Amino acid sequence: MFTPPVGNAALFHRRGLMAPVNADREVGDGRTVKHPSPFAPRFFADSATRADVEPLLRAGIIDGLTTNPTLLKKAGADSWSRAKDIMRELCALFRPHPVSLELTALDEEGMVRQSAELAALGDNAIIKVPVGGYRAVNPEADPYTGLKVIRRLWEQGIRVNTTLVFNTAQALWAANAGAVYVSPFLGRLADYAYSHDDPRRSPGNSLYWAEDRAKSTGTEAMHNTAYVATGGPVKDAGARLIFEIATVFANYRITTEILAASIRNPVQMMDCLVAGADILTVPAGVLGTVADHPLSDEGMKAFAKDAQAFTR
Ligand code: G3P
Repeated sequence: MFTPPVGNAALFHRRGLMAPVNADREVGDGRTVKHPSPFAPRFFADSATRADVEPLLRAGIIDGLTTNPTLLKKAGADSWSRAKDIMRELCALFRPHPVSLELTALDEEGMVRQSAELAALGDNAIIKVPVGGYRAVNPEADPYTGLKVIRRLWEQGIRVNTTLVFNTAQALWAANAGAVYVSPFLGRLADYAYSHDDPRRSPGNSLYWAEDRAKSTGTEAMHNTAYVATGGPVKDAGARLIFEIATVFANYRITTEILAASIRNPVQMMDCLVAGADILTVPAGVLGTVADHPLSDEGMKAFAKDAQAFTR
């Protein structure tokens, strides 16, 4: 389990700056019951498959959805028109809860145009904008395309979830550009470190962007900048990133919500909460694994058996 290096007073204070998640409720006769968890974290499902998420929505476990082109393809989308039908249907199902819909256009003007198209699919649509990676698909591309689009959408009042966040600077720049959510991918970060780390050096060494410079200067200290939330066990790299973003956001009173994504297992889910994430987006299968516990099963069987005595 991830252990934060310092206490969480600042994180606690930041949550108090945000709108309550669970509202108080009027129960008649002029009475209002206060909700016991006004600032609880929220859970979203990371899926585009209606059959997987509808029962979770009905159970009140999730109150939002995140999708991406990979998940839409898995849900059966084989054309843009079919993908839009699925996204429209998911928006209608989740209304008024937020549903993140990812842009597929790659240039600034095309992305702004496509944002309007996606925003028209539902008034709860959130536009998912990749923060970077543009030069990876087109070497001529402007590396700041995503940030420029986020700012333009903010100016138009369109809500943005920034995706593919792997370091704190990306999260901070997206927040400054006007994003209402940032999505750090903790599972992919951990996967990457597990498969690329040099075991003879400090944990998380494969994640340092300064790698090449360090090689040229021979400065091992460059490997300990903690810039990408490294410097502890590999398995905690993602949670350390969440903690780092949460701390920076708390320091500067940033209320852009930290939406922890790419979650692989229940341990990572709890790590995100300890680290200060505002929202967790989790595959339906992983949410399913925490709904039950072998000891809950055993306990329930014993209670049900003993309760039979009261039916006579
Ligand atoms: O929302 C997208 C993100 O959660 C991706 O997850 O499992 O493809 O790393 P994954």
